[in-house]
Amino acid sequence: MAKIAVIPGDGVGPEVVSVAVRAIEAVARARSLAFELVHFDYGADRYLRDGVTLPPGQIEDFRDHYDAILFGAVGDARVPDNRHAREILLALRFQLDLYVNFRPVQLLDERFCPLKGKGPSDVDLVVFRENTEGLYADVGGIFKKGTPDEIAVNEDVNSRKGVERIIRAAFDWAVAHGKKRVCMSDKSNALRFAHDLWQRAFREIAADYPQIEPRHLYIDALAMKLLETPEAFDVVVTCNLFGDILTDLGAALCGGLGLAASANLNPKAPRCRGLFEPVHGSAPDNAGKGLANPLAAVLSAALLLDNLGHAAEGAILERAVRAAVAASVLTRDVGGDRSTAEVGDYVVAEVERLARG
Ligand SMILES: NC(=O)c1ccc[n+]([C@@H]2O[C@H](COP(=O)([O-])OP(=O)(O)OC[C@H]3O[C@@H](n4cnc5c(N)ncnc54)[C@H](O)[C@@H]3O)[C@@H](O)[C@H]2O)c1
Repeated sequence: MAKIAVIPGDGVGPEVVSVAVRAIEAVARARSLAFELVHFDYGADRYLRDGVTLPPGQIEDFRDHYDAILFGAVGDARVPDNRHAREILLALRFQLDLYVNFRPVQLLDERFCPLKGKGPSDVDLVVFRENTEGLYADVGGIFKKGTPDEIAVNEDVNSRKGVERIIRAAFDWAVAHGKKRVCMSDKSNALRFAHDLWQRAFREIAADYPQIEPRHLYIDALAMKLLETPEAFDVVVTCNLFGDILTDLGAALCGGLGLAASANLNPKAPRCRGLFEPVHGSAPDNAGKGLANPLAAVLSAALLLDNLGHAAEGAILERAVRAAVAASVLTRDVGGDRSTAEVGDYVVAEVERLARG
C-alpha cells in the first residue's frame, strides 16, 4: 500500500490541498488502489502554538515509511522571518535530497496565454531546476549588521555531483518522453567559476545523448526567448535561483500561479520519491475567501500519481482539470466566477466519471 503524507500548510494551502486529496481518493476508490493518506498540521499555526516546525525524526520517518508527500504552501505574516517555512519546506527539500525540481510549463488553453498567437502546442516545456544547492544553500553571513559598514554574503554553492545529476535527470527525462531538445541556461559570462562548472558538465553529459540537440543560452537571453519563441524549447535545465524565477515567468505564460504544478524529486530514493506542491505560495490575500484556484494542486497530485507508477490515474486527474478548463468552471484568477469549492466539486466529479469509463 502506498503511503502519502499530506501537509496542507498555511493560507490557501489547506483549501487547495483538500481538493487534491479528494481527487486522489476518488481515483483510488474507482480503480481499487490502496493509498493511505496521513495528515500533518505543520505550518504557522502549529509553530506559533508550540514552537514545532518539524519534530525530531519526522524527516527520517517520511524518508523511510512514506512514498510521497503532498504539500500545500508555507508562509504567514505572523512569522516575520518565515523561519517555519525554511525549517519545513527547505529542510524537506534538502534533507530528503530532492534534487530535481520538476516544473511543467504547459499551456492548457490559448485564452490563458498573454502572448499573441501562441497556443498549447507552442507553450509545452518542462524546467528542471536544481533544488538543493546554489544560492539557496544557506551559506554566508552578515558582518557589522546594522552599521554603515554592513556586509551581507550568500555563497553560490555548486558541486560537480549536484550539477551533473540535475543535467543528467533533464536528459534522461527528454529521452524517456521522446523530446528532442535540452537547453541549459546559466550566466557563465559573469559567474566565471560556478557556471563554468555548469558549462563543462553540460558539454560532457550532452555527448552521452547524441539523439538530443543540446543548446545553451545565458539566463537573460532565455528570459527573452521564452517570450518570443516558447515553441523552441522542450526541456530547460538550470540552477536553483534561475529556475525559481524562470518558472514564475513560465506560469505567467500559462495563466498564472493557479495552474502551475511542481514536483520535488529524488529519482534514486529507495522509498520516498518526492514532495509534490503547487508552485504558488500561501497567497494570504486570498485565504479563506473561496478564491484560491485548486487546479495547480490537482495537477501536482497528478504528478504524484505518475511518479508512484500510476500514470493512467495521474492522466485522469489531468484530464479532469482540462475538462474544468474546457467547461470554464474556473476561479477568478483565470477568468472564471466559481469558488474553490465549486471548481473542486466539478473536478472530483470528473475524476469519478473518467475513472469509471
Ligand atoms: N512553496 C511555498 O510554500 C511558497 C512559495 C512562494 C511563496 N511562499 C510564501 O507565501 C507567502 C505569499 O507569497 P507571495 O504573495 O509572494 O506568493 P503567492 O504565490 O502566495 O501569491 C502571489 C499572487 O498569486 C496569487 N495566487 C497564488 N496562488 C493562487 C491560487 N491558487 N489561486 C489564485 N491566486 C493565487 C496570490 O493571491 C497573489 O496575488 C509568503 O509568505 C511567501 O514566502 C511559499
